[in-house]
Amino acid sequence: MTGWNTLKRTGFAALITAAAASPGFAANAGQGKELALQWCSTCHLVSNDQDTASGASLPSFFDIARDPGFSEDGLKTFLADPHPKMPNMTLSNGEIADIARYISSLSE
Ligand code: HEC
Repeated sequence: MTGWNTLKRTGFAALITAAAASPGFAANAGQGKELALQWCSTCHLVSNDQDTASGASLPSFFDIARDPGFSEDGLKTFLADPHPKMPNMTLSNGEIADIARYISSLSE
């Protein structure tokens, strides 16, 4: 008889395989940070290891993350239809999800 442990191991293996096979579906905060530094850091303070942000009066990503009204889904909607003062950014849905996950991680 195969034991519970065998079952668990098989189950985990299947999970890991599924996750690896669909990288586009798992938002990645590390990737989001790279994207934020690339796309957002000219105006916003997006990270503590960033030297400067041009818009000192703009909300930093830390402020945004701590806003009680913040939600990853709300941010995704916002980024899909960017604020007028932002340049045209051609972010894919996956990139948007990564950035939203990264900003969300700043409130932890
Ligand atoms: C060219 C400058 C510029 C860039 C680049 C930029 N933003 Fe902004 N952002 C602004 C300005 C200006 C505001 C203030 C709101 C307004 O007036 O539209 C703002 C506001 C925001 C807000 C709303 C904050 C709040 O609570 O009011 C969010 C969220 C945001 N930006 C996210 C981002 C993200 C994510 C990126 C990168 C993908 C980005 N921004 C890139 C200029 C910029």
